[in-house]
Amino acid sequence: MKNIWGVEIELNKSILDYIHIESDREKAKRNFDRALAGESFTLVEQYGEEHLEREYFKDTYYPLIDNDDNILGLAVTVEDVTLSHSNKEKVSQVIKQLEEQVDKRTLELERINTDLQEENYKRIESQKELNLVKAQIEKALANEMELNKLKTKFISMVSHEFRTPLTIIQSATFLLEKSYERSDEEKFYKNLDKISKSIDTMTDLMENVLNIGKLEHGEIKASKKVFDIRNEVKNLVESNKIYNKIVKIDLPAENVFVDSDKVLCTQIVNNLLSNAIKYSGEKPKIKLKMIADGYNCIISVKDNGIGIAKENISNLTEAFKREDKISSLVQGTGLGLSIIKHNLDLLGGEMNIESELEEGTKVTITIPR
Ligand SMILES: Nc1ncnc2c1ncn2[C@@H]1O[C@H](COP(=O)(O)OP(=O)(O)OP(=O)(O)O)[C@@H](O)[C@H]1O
Ligand SMILES: [Mg+2]
Repeated sequence: MKNIWGVEIELNKSILDYIHIESDREKAKRNFDRALAGESFTLVEQYGEEHLEREYFKDTYYPLIDNDDNILGLAVTVEDVTLSHSNKEKVSQVIKQLEEQVDKRTLELERINTDLQEENYKRIESQKELNLVKAQIEKALANEMELNKLKTKFISMVSHEFRTPLTIIQSATFLLEKSYERSDEEKFYKNLDKISKSIDTMTDLMENVLNIGKLEHGEIKASKKVFDIRNEVKNLVESNKIYNKIVKIDLPAENVFVDSDKVLCTQIVNNLLSNAIKYSGEKPKIKLKMIADGYNCIISVKDNGIGIAKENISNLTEAFKREDKISSLVQGTGLGLSIIKHNLDLLGGEMNIESELEEGTKVTITIPR
């Protein structure tokens, strides 16, 4: 008790008088009252003067009862449950050390975490760069392969396309000589005509190749003049021996004047008709229709031919691209649609291809007036 209150407690004095802290005194009084009412209980409580050892005590209160169940008083056992002072210091030292260690480790962990995050970020960045480079290399490789394929196609196409007229020229030259020797004028002129036509074919082909080269390098410019496109198309069909037999034309009743490039327009319509005939087989039914409003002249060429697979339509406007399945069957350089596209770009026009396999194809072009 001396440790707690700082005084010896005399016999027959109330302990409450020694408790100077008001709240402690009230707490003790409450506990005494409970014991005096007959209750036994144990509490862990804090008591004592601030300057002494105000510590934790395990206090057990119980009433003193005689044989007739009368409560005579109460007894309290007090057990100091606070660690001894030195122990406490050690513990707090250990705790302090532990706390310091925890702080240190936390800091270390935070640093490691930051390093890891940085490393991770760098890794993601370099992975991104790697992916980018990979994509670029793959694209370059694909381009290179595509270019190689086109080169091979181009070479085989040119040699193929030149072989036929060259063979004709060769045999016609031989026959020309013979007919000259025999003074057979008719055969002579027939063979001369064959030679001249074959040369035309080769010249056309070379011109197409040169033309596409110039178009792709932007060397050709549209030179616009006002002309009657209706008349131009009419003449193109009627003056061509093949076209005038096969192509049905549906033109506006009146002239259609456009401010455009006549050469480019004629090339466009010519290539459309050539395709429609080439890819229409035995009984071609080809219809050319022209309509016009104040802003545009719209020309469509419809055939009943082999058609184009939907997925290939957009690719065929690239130079030298042809449908694989027909490339060995029908002669062609794969330049027509590409020339049309380039010409339309120069004129500010548009092209739309609709096609159904085995049914036919309809190509519609719009030329601004
Ligand atoms: N009307 C059509 N019907 C079916 N396929 C077509 C038609 N027009 C074009 N094609 C397909 O598109 C390809 C490309 O046509 P494009 O006119 O560019 O070349 P080409 O006709 O093969 O050769 P070129 O016109 O240079 O002589 C053709 O090879 C063909 O496969
Ligand atoms: Mg063509």
